[in-house]
Amino acid sequence: MPGRTCRLDAPAKINLHLEVEDRRADGYHNLISIFLAVSFGDTLVIEENGAGGTTAITMERETGLSGGDDLAALPPEKNLVFRAVELFREKTRYNRDLAIRLIKRVPAGGGLGGGSSDAAAVLRALNVLAGAGYGRDDLAALSACLGSDVPFFMYGGAALVTGRGEIMRPLDVPAPLCFVMVTPRFGSSTARAFALLDAARGRAGGNAGYGDAGYGDGPRAHHGDYLARALGAEPSSWPFYNDFLPVLAGEQDGIYPRMMGELHAAGAAFTGLSGSGSSCFGVFPPGTAARRAAARLKKHGFFVQTTIFLASMPDPMLQ
Ligand code: C5P
Repeated sequence: MPGRTCRLDAPAKINLHLEVEDRRADGYHNLISIFLAVSFGDTLVIEENGAGGTTAITMERETGLSGGDDLAALPPEKNLVFRAVELFREKTRYNRDLAIRLIKRVPAGGGLGGGSSDAAAVLRALNVLAGAGYGRDDLAALSACLGSDVPFFMYGGAALVTGRGEIMRPLDVPAPLCFVMVTPRFGSSTARAFALLDAARGRAGGNAGYGDAGYGDGPRAHHGDYLARALGAEPSSWPFYNDFLPVLAGEQDGIYPRMMGELHAAGAAFTGLSGSGSSCFGVFPPGTAARRAAARLKKHGFFVQTTIFLASMPDPMLQ
């Protein structure tokens, strides 16, 4: 007899701004980033069964595109959804058998946080199913070991994200924002992008970020205030950028500058790279411009998605 079922959407994210500071002693980098949740994402359906502690995951891919790693081909211990379940079981001794359907729409390796959002969604759903009573902060702290982007998805909306990705300050988004997200037919490895950035900075003689000794936290906080204020300005005057763009710009025959150029030509007020690639995005005024831009970019063979800023995370639905 099947038990309860929980259905939950797992929104993707866009990095409007992504500054990478120096490499830390633990190998990670401190970041200063603006994360925005968007209305496009994956869906998880979690069915509770007996009390054997088993986890079965099936994946359906709705889009024709697979970016990098295909989840189905991954060994379970590398699958973030599986690892999230194991982590939750460890913490709570929850032992119901789980059948998880993962409806994937977000391209893998695309810098849109698909896998991270799925992992966060599983923890949020299990929290409800198991009646564990964790708050958002508890879940964010618990999820940090799964990946640097996971804690953001416990809050969603817009946030200034610092530290390794675990320090969150909510931001106001004053105007409705409409995005066209463009993903090429390949994924980009985060670890590789960080290594390329370190190598480029090593050749250039290092990077004097806010994480450098002697700066303290004052300038970093001022910088955060500056970025938060900038979000209120017209997108065409945003000062945001992504530190990975210069190191990835020459890859794949310059596909990143080309995607951004196409978005600009199609009327985007601002364009950027999300995460460490491979997706780029354009910001459009609400209306038909975004749809026209999407149609134009699809002709180039990219995976293209039109979406809007999502102010609050969807709640798990028990059936
Ligand atoms: O945390 P996550 O597993 O997503 O990170 C993947 C890789 O990206 C890490 O192993 C690390 O090399 C790099 N990374 C980093 N600094 C961050 C986040 C990720 O150096 N803040």
